[in-house]
Parts: sequence; structure tokens; C-alpha cells
Amino acid sequence: MLEVKQLFAGYGRLTALKGINLTVKQGEIVFVVGPNGAGKSTLLKTIAGLMSPSSGEIFFQGSRIDRKVPEQLCRSGLALIPEGRHIFKTLTVQENLKVGSMIRRNSAEVRADLETILDTFPILRERFNGIAGHLSGGEQQQLAIARSILQRPSLLMIDEPSLGLAPLVIDQVYESLRTLNQSGLTLLIVEQSTARIMELASRIYVVRNGDVVLEGTPDQLADGRALDAAYFGFASATA
Ligand SMILES: Nc1ncnc2c1ncn2[C@@H]1O[C@H](COP(=O)(O)OP(=O)(O)OP(=O)(O)O)[C@@H](O)[C@H]1O
Ligand SMILES: [Mg+2]
Repeated sequence: MLEVKQLFAGYGRLTALKGINLTVKQGEIVFVVGPNGAGKSTLLKTIAGLMSPSSGEIFFQGSRIDRKVPEQLCRSGLALIPEGRHIFKTLTVQENLKVGSMIRRNSAEVRADLETILDTFPILRERFNGIAGHLSGGEQQQLAIARSILQRPSLLMIDEPSLGLAPLVIDQVYESLRTLNQSGLTLLIVEQSTARIMELASRIYVVRNGDVVLEGTPDQLADGRALDAAYFGFASATA
């Protein structure tokens, strides 16, 4: 579904991505983990068309997308929830959700999807007319996810969904992501920590210093030593 080949990108003279290779297959939940400054957010921004790669190729559903603008990508089924969620804090929950459905034409379908989403995230139904900025961090994350689901993406990318959330709330957010995945949504998720992702992940990539240093299924990485070594950059890391 998504194929990233030898991707380089950066900010001015700083090269943040140094030849990343990554694939996501239909139906998978793929995690990209790595320490601060590894290039995880840059990777998602580049896939979503918010940054241009300096070289390399990105394919989505068989078409080359690395020269396309974010709006085209969004219409072709690729959605990104950026770091920090970016919901409209002064608007209501309802208004935020409306923004998510803006690119869609069939309003009966949107209404039906909205009902399904409000069933998945009951708190949003409860707070439908409330100001989004008054929601808790976890509720705002649910709103950001709900809003992007209204775009009907086939691949949803999320940058650090657990950031700033209490452990119990992280479990709730991940539980809703699991439900969405079971109903057909493919996910590419960035997290800083490898905690709590093992039971959800189809595959995991560890990124350090702009490159993939380890890749595998949770089973392959279950031992934890290779994962720690890759994550912390110990000499014993094997890619
Ligand atoms: N807007 C920017 N301008 C210049 N340099 C940037 C910018 N954003 C990121 N960088 C640099 O690019 C590199 C990769 O940053 P990136 O934000 O992709 O890392 P990250 O893996 O998402 O880190 P974190 O876990 O802290 O979110 C870092 O060296 C960072 O300092
Ligand atoms: Mg980041």
C-alpha cells in the first residue's frame, strides 16, 4: 500500500532522513519508533507531502506520490494527524468534525460515518456542542482521530498519539485504533517509546539518526535486546 524507497529529506543544510526504506501493507499497523530527533516526524511529513524529499521515491496504492501536494494525497486516501494533534481549540467538537468531512461530497454518507464515529468515541457525542479546547488531552486525541476518519482515509498516519496522555488513556486511544484497524483502516504510527506497542504492531521499524537501524515483527523483536541496542545505538545493534 505504501512504499518508501531510499528517502532523503532535510531542513536547509541539515539532512534529517538519510535513505529510509519502509513499507506498509494493506491492513497492517506499522510502528516507527526512535529517540528524540531521529527523523520520525520528518518522515511522516514527507510522506504526507508537507515536505519535499531531496531524493528517493514514495509510492501509495501503486502510484508515485513524492511530487504531489497534501490536498491531492488527502483525496487519494492518505491522512496525517501531526504531532500535537492540531485540533481547533476554540471551535466546538461538532465544528472540528465538520472540518474533517470537508473534502467529501455525499452528505448522507458523511452523516452515517459520523454516527459510526460517535459510537466509536462516545465521549465526543457527549461533548458534541462543547468547546474542543476544554476536552482533556486524551479526548482531544480521540477528536483528532475521529476528524481524520471522516476523510475516509485508507492509510492513517499518526505522530505520537500517546504524547502527554496518562497510561489508562493511552490504552483507550490504542483500543479505538485497534477497532478502526479491524474495520479496515491501515495505520502507520510514530511513537518515541516501544512500550505498549508490541501487542498491537504488525511490524516495527526503529529509526535513529535519519535511518532505519532495525526492522521486524513483535515476535522477531520479542527478546528486546536487539531492540534496545538499536534504539539506544549500542555497538551490538544489528540491522
Ligand atoms: N522545522 C525544522 N527546522 C530545522 N530542523 C528541524 C525542523 N524540524 C526538525 N528538525 C531537525 O530534524 C531532525 C529530525 O527531527 P524530527 O522532528 O523529524 O525528529 P523526531 O524523531 O520526530 O523527534 P521527536 O521524537 O523529538 O519528535 C532533528 O535533528 C531536528 O532538530
Ligand atoms: Mg517528532
